[in-house]
Amino acid sequence: MANQLCIVLDFGGQYNQLIARRVRECGVYCEIKNYKTPIEEIKALSPAGIIFTGGPNSVYDESSPHIYKEIFDLGIPILGICYGCQLMAYTLGGTVESCEKSEYGKIEITSSSNSLLFSDIPEKSIVWMSHTDFVSQLPEGFNVTARSADCPCAAFECPDKKLYAVQFHPEVTHSEFGKQILHNFVYKVCGFTGDWKMDDFIENTVTDLRRQIGDKKVILGLSGGVDSSVAAGLLSRAVGKQLTCVFVDQGLMRKDEGDFVEETFTKLFDMNFIRVNCKEKFLSALKGVTDPEQKRKIIGTEFYSVFWDKIREQGTDGFFAQGTIYPDRIESGKGNEAGKGSTAVIKTHHNMVEMPADIQFAGTIEPLKDLFKDEVRAVGEKLGIPHDLVWRQPFPGPGLGVRILGEITEEKIKVLQEADAVFRDEIRKSGIEDQLKQFFAVLPDVRTVGVMGDHRTYDHLIAIRAITTDDFMTADWARIPYDVLARVSNRLTNEVEHVNRVVYDITSKPPGTVEWE
Ligand code: XMP
Repeated sequence: MANQLCIVLDFGGQYNQLIARRVRECGVYCEIKNYKTPIEEIKALSPAGIIFTGGPNSVYDESSPHIYKEIFDLGIPILGICYGCQLMAYTLGGTVESCEKSEYGKIEITSSSNSLLFSDIPEKSIVWMSHTDFVSQLPEGFNVTARSADCPCAAFECPDKKLYAVQFHPEVTHSEFGKQILHNFVYKVCGFTGDWKMDDFIENTVTDLRRQIGDKKVILGLSGGVDSSVAAGLLSRAVGKQLTCVFVDQGLMRKDEGDFVEETFTKLFDMNFIRVNCKEKFLSALKGVTDPEQKRKIIGTEFYSVFWDKIREQGTDGFFAQGTIYPDRIESGKGNEAGKGSTAVIKTHHNMVEMPADIQFAGTIEPLKDLFKDEVRAVGEKLGIPHDLVWRQPFPGPGLGVRILGEITEEKIKVLQEADAVFRDEIRKSGIEDQLKQFFAVLPDVRTVGVMGDHRTYDHLIAIRAITTDDFMTADWARIPYDVLARVSNRLTNEVEHVNRVVYDITSKPPGTVEWE
């Protein structure tokens, strides 16, 4: 059964995915569509509510995104946010002007409890503002429902037409009652029933997968990352042994990680699990190579050569499955759905890779294609996938290959795996793991002089990296307490052979990247 649908119409703002995620957190299924989506398509989707996002433009700018007036006559409730709010006013005959004083940051508003949008919200509350234009005159039939010191129309509405608008951003956590405002919109204004639940998603998806797959086979490339693991869990529940997972272990994973993935999927799930161990092949292809881009390229090429060969060996008379998730398909800002209809393109970490022409499956299956990452994790937990896999931090496709600078050798992999394991263990024990988005050890291929007992040493330097970030586009180095750093340093130099010095990377992104190569 299809869920009731809320549409987020994307005008290019930076928080657009966040709006959709917040709506889903309210138990309402939500999709992001390009603002250019034709009205016929919108009508055919019969959404029970529409949200206009923010955007970086000014409505008076001819090149900025506009909307056809007819959308306001569909009888579908609409909430305009920031640029979306100005666009609603402008399109319906109101006036938008530049602010004398732009509002940016946390601002106090006074709202009217008579508005459905502001029900159960105190008269005065803090919201997140970010605008240089404002609505100076409302369209006919609208009335103001909130104001701030510098913004006379911080929110306005025409309840008869079910049109609502807020100048601020309810989707960001800095807006104290933002979640309640979105909740009020979807439940009190639109009348959603709240039928988006992860238990139902699993049940419905399993039923759909069984119907789609029938008695055919399915092959999934399992990387040990969150998405492919959860896709494997779902497919296993749906078709058991009809599923074959191919796990290519290039020997560049973290310590014991390959064994952990194998154990999880062979012991806890019903499927055929194929592990291809090809460390030697990778090491010989990487011998003598020091250039970071060339290393990445070789690792990628070798990976696919092994993977496609295994696929050919297994046969392609069934389906090909992959762990594509919703954000992989959204081309942010433009609202287009990248990859739509392009079943021959497969998702690999950051990249899309084309399937060789000789490999042709009956079809592609992407059971997570409509889910956000936090929803994928919720599904993973419900399927019984171990915590460490469900909450696994991002790990680059080329694995430790981008964390060993210079030539990659077996000896260096071993040093880095041991060092990384010690660092992770210490972070876990210190109770700060949840505050870090990613943390790992790097082997910069630098040797320094040290002293151990009475002996001079000349051994490896280990760099440790720990970051906090919202989206990995920018990141800050984590302020790990000194005593934790001290324990890490102590353990690394004592427990890991060939390590005699430790440094902490205090570079933010930009100018640095998260990875060193
Ligand atoms: P950078 O180094 O670009 O990293 O600041 C941002 C995030 O992306 C991860 N990363 C990768 N992930 N394949 C991946 O799947 C890759 O080739 C790759 N390179 C970087 C990185 O770990 C961080 O989370």
